Amino acid sequence: MSRLTRCDRTPAWAQLQAHFGSGAQPARAFDLRQAFAADPARFEALSQQAPHVFADLSKNLIDAPTEALLQTLARQCGVTALRDAMFAGLPINNTEQRPVMHFLLRQPPRAAGEAARPWDAELTQVHATLQAMLAYAEQVRADESITDVVNIGIGGSDLGPQMAVQALAEFAIPAKRLHFVSNVDGHELAGLLARLDAGKTLFLVASKTFTTTETMSNALSAKRWFEAQLGVEAPALIARHFAALTTNVAAAREFGISTTFGFWDWVGGRYSLMSAIGLPLAISIGAAGFKDMLAGAHAMDQHFCSAPAERNLPMRLGLLDVWYRNFHGFTSRSIAPYHSALRRWPAYLQQLEMESNGKRVDREGQALPFGTAPVLWGEPGTNGQHAYFQMLHQGTDVVPMEFVAVKKAAHHLPGHHDKLLANALAQAQAFMLGQADAGGHKHFAGNRPSTFLLLDELTPASLGALLALQEHRVFVSGAVWGINSFDQWGVELGKVLAKDIEARLRTGDALGLDASTAGLLARLKA
Ligand code: F6P
Repeated sequence: MSRLTRCDRTPAWAQLQAHFGSGAQPARAFDLRQAFAADPARFEALSQQAPHVFADLSKNLIDAPTEALLQTLARQCGVTALRDAMFAGLPINNTEQRPVMHFLLRQPPRAAGEAARPWDAELTQVHATLQAMLAYAEQVRADESITDVVNIGIGGSDLGPQMAVQALAEFAIPAKRLHFVSNVDGHELAGLLARLDAGKTLFLVASKTFTTTETMSNALSAKRWFEAQLGVEAPALIARHFAALTTNVAAAREFGISTTFGFWDWVGGRYSLMSAIGLPLAISIGAAGFKDMLAGAHAMDQHFCSAPAERNLPMRLGLLDVWYRNFHGFTSRSIAPYHSALRRWPAYLQQLEMESNGKRVDREGQALPFGTAPVLWGEPGTNGQHAYFQMLHQGTDVVPMEFVAVKKAAHHLPGHHDKLLANALAQAQAFMLGQADAGGHKHFAGNRPSTFLLLDELTPASLGALLALQEHRVFVSGAVWGINSFDQWGVELGKVLAKDIEARLRTGDALGLDASTAGLLARLKA
């Protein structure tokens, strides 16, 4: 890992700055319409098939020379060296001295004759846990007395499983209702409990650390409610109706949950969907479906590890992100899934990218002189078109778009899917082409970039590949920026302050508080 160099200290960075800003044809003046007119092969050159995912990058503000320079940048930063270090199980999460091995969650067993790997011992544990968890999922699926499954978790212990359960609703077992409770706001849990029958409910308490306030508060309230409903404290019933998904099995046991599925500190919360945290999904789609998702993700891992840089999709997307953030100065990316089952896709990506790369210091703790993670946001299409797309087409800021569309619909309502796909294509086209000949209010400048990701079908395998693609793309931009994408110290301060204020809400003590917080506290106590 000694070969890592922060992007702004590489020769390629200066070359990219020159390429962007000067010369007869600076890249800052790049025009998509001219680029397509000048190069009939542009679509072929800037699109590619990766496992399960076709990506059209041709409507982005790049061309072959720009991509080549970005790949040189990646080489000089040591992106592939860091990638290889991650896949070798080295502790690349340097602020916590941990390896980063979520890829192991989808790694198949060692084939006969295959050389030993540094993480073979961990892989054995992964497979043992996976087998136990999938057997449990099948048992729950077969148990007709359980009608409702409630996942209690937040952040990575909620967003991934919730997004995936919705995305793969087409594959869901009809006899189970899946619910997700994340917020400490009691309205969420109370509203759900009112609709549940304790004797028919399974609670999954999902928390990597088993210390997160929101999850612990909800789990405690759920347990109290369950015991009150059944009129007894019954450890045997708790064992049947509560399971914990956590790296902290001891804390789960202490809490009173004896049915546990573990994982490891080398799986980051936002990278944990394919660990025991995926249990709600396994219950919903079954063991075979879950394994298909793992296989799709593994195929993308292999692509990331072996495809040459110029045909390596996570590499190309991560470098495109750097190009937009640090050269064009774009501060956000809008995510537009044209499939309503992917409605939580933007929220899932927000945590993945913004918690990973929302950092202002490099791996050594030095302040960065350039921007890092953009703001990610979005809504499913076509809904977004009737809300904020106006700003995207005619507003003063350029926001790169990322469409996700699925060729084959999972329903048979005539006409709908063609309309949906037509809208996705039309929006991407409108962003690019604009309407330059119209004046005044009807003028669209165009030249607004977009990436178009296309799946043949939304299946466990294609979702797995799409997930791994995003994980690795975030890895690439983080590696170029020289940051540790695998810690999240920025979430700690608020947690500490909330504990202090919670105590003050009980006592009314405002001593030492800033005037605004003290004023609000006084109003809440009045
Ligand atoms: O507060 C942020 C965070 O630590 C996320 O990184 C994590 O996914 C989430 O909280 C939940 O943590 P846990 O799974 O340990 O409850």
